[in-house]
Amino acid sequence: MNIPTYREEPFEWYKKMRNKNPIYKEGNVIYLFKNKDIVNVLSDYKTYSSQFRDLLGLETAQKLNKMVSPSILISDPPAHTDLRDLVSNAFSPNAIMPYEDKIREITVSLINNIKNKRSFDLVSSLSSPLPINVIADILGIPIKDKDLFKKWSDRLATSLGRGPDINTQMEMSRYFYRMVDNDDGNNLIKRLTEVAVDGKKLTKPEIASFAILLLVAGNETTTNLLTNTLLILSKRPEIYDRMKNDNKFINSVVEEALRFASPVQSTRRYAKNSTDINGVDVNKNNFIQLYLGSANRDEDLYEEPEEFNPDRKNKRHIAFGNGIHFCLGAPLARLESRIFLEEFSGNIDKFNAIEPAPDDKIDNDIMYGYNKLIITI
Ligand code: HEM
Repeated sequence: MNIPTYREEPFEWYKKMRNKNPIYKEGNVIYLFKNKDIVNVLSDYKTYSSQFRDLLGLETAQKLNKMVSPSILISDPPAHTDLRDLVSNAFSPNAIMPYEDKIREITVSLINNIKNKRSFDLVSSLSSPLPINVIADILGIPIKDKDLFKKWSDRLATSLGRGPDINTQMEMSRYFYRMVDNDDGNNLIKRLTEVAVDGKKLTKPEIASFAILLLVAGNETTTNLLTNTLLILSKRPEIYDRMKNDNKFINSVVEEALRFASPVQSTRRYAKNSTDINGVDVNKNNFIQLYLGSANRDEDLYEEPEEFNPDRKNKRHIAFGNGIHFCLGAPLARLESRIFLEEFSGNIDKFNAIEPAPDDKIDNDIMYGYNKLIITI
């Protein structure tokens, strides 16, 4: 099977696979393209595991776990349930509402830097610094360490899809350990040291691992959502104009952008035992590659799935995943995107985007977005 490279658009290929080979097995990997099959796998954590370190063998897994605690993203229940119970309150829609003013302040200040320019790179001036500054603020990273924080974030983003960058993670762990020891501020790290569920508390390595995950899972994903949305809007000025007078419509634009240009195109699981998916044999330890980006364009669910239509009836998608690992940061990502689009459309009457070159695409099998997008205003 010829999997498109990151430079190629994958959507035609997905369509072909949905129609001809919706469950495709090659070597020890099973590739899934249909929404229903993908949702079924994501819902069945007992059969399909996220605990990838177990595949390395007990000794190596234990050694690695000692260096950097496994995050919720690569844990199965019961460890996942315990971790998620402890951190989920901090990211609920109610818990992140108080950040709205701060997010707006950061957004406005970034927009002020570009609004008198004739052209600028959206990624480096807006869509990348916005989520990094927001999460740095939530975690309580002091201003003096913001550059260090940005460097880690960039390094971790490029490591996604290529295995963990253990050195960066260890450097960050040491930083967060110090923060836990010294911290007396009103921030997430401080709150994470205090939360307890059924008498259980997060350990220091677990707090560090969670803080690292927030950077890995939250920054580049949100950056890509913002960039992808503006690229789409540059081609649909009538939608952009409508957004200016109708803030509610902005929410529909965000949901449709998540469906249409999903920042996370795929995720993986592995089979804990032999089973089958619609009659296709799955052997123990086979990997299951789940194309969320294809599920979100499945013609069984959506009318004219290849059209960008914020007014579509079915607004549901699985861009944030499904089941127990459903994105913890979804309310924050939605809030940041809404504020960004409100402020951008409120300040910039018209804009164009220079169609990015294939080389400007992010070199990654998982992430869908661009390293650079030149906007002219
Ligand atoms: C548009 C932006 C985002 C997208 C598209 C996105 C997408 C996803 C997806 C698809 C998953 C599930 C992966 C799987 O099941 O294998 C996930 C999990 C997760 N995301 Fe996001 N994410 C975004 C933003 C954020 C933000 C802003 C944060 C936090 C600041 C965040 C934190 C997490 C965490 C902690 C998990 C793991 C949850 C668990 O394992 O229980 N994400 N995200």
